[in-house]
Amino acid sequence: MSLPPGFLEELRDRASLSQVVGRKVTWEQKKTNISKGDFWAPCPFHSEKTASFHVDDRKGFYYCFGCHEKGDSISFIRNTENVSFIEAVEILAREAGMTMPARDPKAQEKIDANKELADIMEQAVQFYKMQFSSTNAQVAREYIKVRGLSQETISIFEIGFASNDRVSLSKNLMNKGITEEKIISAGLAIKPDDGGAIFDRFRGRIMFPIRNAQGRCIAFGGRAMDPNARAKYLNSNETALFDKGRSLYNHGPAREAAGKADALIVAEGYMDVIALSQFGFKHAVAPLGTAITEGQLALIWRMHPEPIIALDGDNAGLRAAMRLIDLALPLLEAGKSLRFCILPLGQDPDDILKENGAASMQKLLTNAVPMVNLLWQRETENKSFDSPERRAALDKSLRTSILKIQDKSIRHHYGQAIKELRYQLFAPANSRLPSSNFLKSGKFGKYWGKETKQMASPDTKLSMLAIQSDSTTWRLRESLILAAAIRNQSAALKNESAMEKCPITTPDLAEIMNAILMNIHHQDLEAGEKNTFNEILKKTLGYSPIDRLLQLKPLRNHPYLKVNTEPTLIQRTLEEELSKHSALIGASNEIKEAEQDLTGLVDEGLTWRLRQAALAKTKATRAVEEDATASDENASEMSKQLQNMLDDQIWIKKTR
Ligand code: UTP
Ligand code: MN
Repeated sequence: MSLPPGFLEELRDRASLSQVVGRKVTWEQKKTNISKGDFWAPCPFHSEKTASFHVDDRKGFYYCFGCHEKGDSISFIRNTENVSFIEAVEILAREAGMTMPARDPKAQEKIDANKELADIMEQAVQFYKMQFSSTNAQVAREYIKVRGLSQETISIFEIGFASNDRVSLSKNLMNKGITEEKIISAGLAIKPDDGGAIFDRFRGRIMFPIRNAQGRCIAFGGRAMDPNARAKYLNSNETALFDKGRSLYNHGPAREAAGKADALIVAEGYMDVIALSQFGFKHAVAPLGTAITEGQLALIWRMHPEPIIALDGDNAGLRAAMRLIDLALPLLEAGKSLRFCILPLGQDPDDILKENGAASMQKLLTNAVPMVNLLWQRETENKSFDSPERRAALDKSLRTSILKIQDKSIRHHYGQAIKELRYQLFAPANSRLPSSNFLKSGKFGKYWGKETKQMASPDTKLSMLAIQSDSTTWRLRESLILAAAIRNQSAALKNESAMEKCPITTPDLAEIMNAILMNIHHQDLEAGEKNTFNEILKKTLGYSPIDRLLQLKPLRNHPYLKVNTEPTLIQRTLEEELSKHSALIGASNEIKEAEQDLTGLVDEGLTWRLRQAALAKTKATRAVEEDATASDENASEMSKQLQNMLDDQIWIKKTR
């Protein structure tokens, strides 16, 4: 329906936004200034206690500072009443005492024409069904039997048959007084370019009527009986009734079943949907011979917030999944996501059901993985991340994908999930967290079972050359690194790669490192706010890491770990400690490896390696010692205990 010019403007002027919104919210009295047309309330679009939702009554616009929802009176009605644009206009017009313009006469004509086409389609359904029972459909019936379709399924899905006769349907329809043009515009017959007689579009095929959600037949899919046919499946062309990208096979029945089953399956083919339905999965749909489109995704999400995409377990299926991810990312919002069920190689749901039964299919569906896992798989599978450049490239491509997500909150959660996956891939083996449920839910044997590259983990106790005080020194240094990272998140982010490689030898500290790495990209920090990163980590850990770390006296008194320390000083501390720590531990590992070799063959080379390793360690230790002196000059307050620890290192050097 078209509205006369100026109608909407007048409507917006007449309808008071504060009045429209006021029915859904309670205004915050203190913040609200009625005389200025300034209204505040807790946002009706997201759950909150504070009043972030602002209505500018004079301009007629609202905006939420929390969830960024914005719009005018029409969009407010649309979103809160879940109605179409025109319905929202009608509601507002009624309230504002404005008369809606009469419906467009052209639109009425179109409705009538479509009804006529739908009637023709319905007659075709009946004709093809009748043909399926006729004698010349013997082969078709046998084929369908071989495919395992029950009599009930055949009747539910209204399976039909189009014979090889070039004009059987056209003739039948024309005998009922339907014109050639109508038959053609219904997509049932084709007129040759040379002007010859029309002929049926579908010949020698098993016919699947495609109905829209309201149950109207809008198109057909036809499966060739002849294995050499030009196309295995032929679908109706687009007509006034059939918008391929906005239609789904089995839409109506699946929509009803999806509510009951609280699930929705999206398969690739007609036969998959039919087999699924026969095995009790009535909540299944399929696109119509094309990759899933944005329009179809919208329909699917209207049926269920988290449909399961069951794609064939072949390369084409995986590619389709990846395309779908790119399509879906920008459209994701709260209550709209996807799960993927990747079937075993070379099988579709139809095969699984027939070979292994419904329980087997259900198991695969239960094991469907969230989209984020598939995204991760796409970015990481068969790739190596053994250099900082490669890791950076991975981060970049992941970030690019995540940035496609428009919804801020979803984007944040994707970031978190990716961080966790990333951490699982790169973390030192000794500090890797037990994987959380969503990681376990994956069934990608190939990927998920893959050994991730493990970092060497030092075990000081076993080492005959390791000095007893090493573990205490390490603990201290590790604590220092963690505390500095918490005090200066952006410094930690700048040194992300070094942080990841930094081996943490003490389990309780490893947990803190893990939390830091998981939250290192967190961007919701208010500028200038102190200690916020610690607050974020607290949520992950359940305790305040900085308080725990500062229980170590040398840290508590450390001049560079105060809340007000100049950030660049913290950054320098962090970077220095990181490099020294890795040097020390690296050397220690060398020694340990050499020792282990000692139990085998002793040779000169080995003795040489041992000496080199010990030397490297001494060198690293000296750096620590020199630095300690330097820091001492800068900060006279430098803890005595830290100094003592470092003295230990000097002792190590001297006794060696
Ligand atoms: P498949 O080849 O996987 O179909 O194509 P299927 O359902 O498993 O077919 P059967 O089991 O061999 O009978 C999946 C879907 O792709 C479209 C159809 O919609 C089909 O259901 N398609 C396939 C076409 O449109 N044309 C084709 O030639 C092939
Ligand atoms: Mn199949």
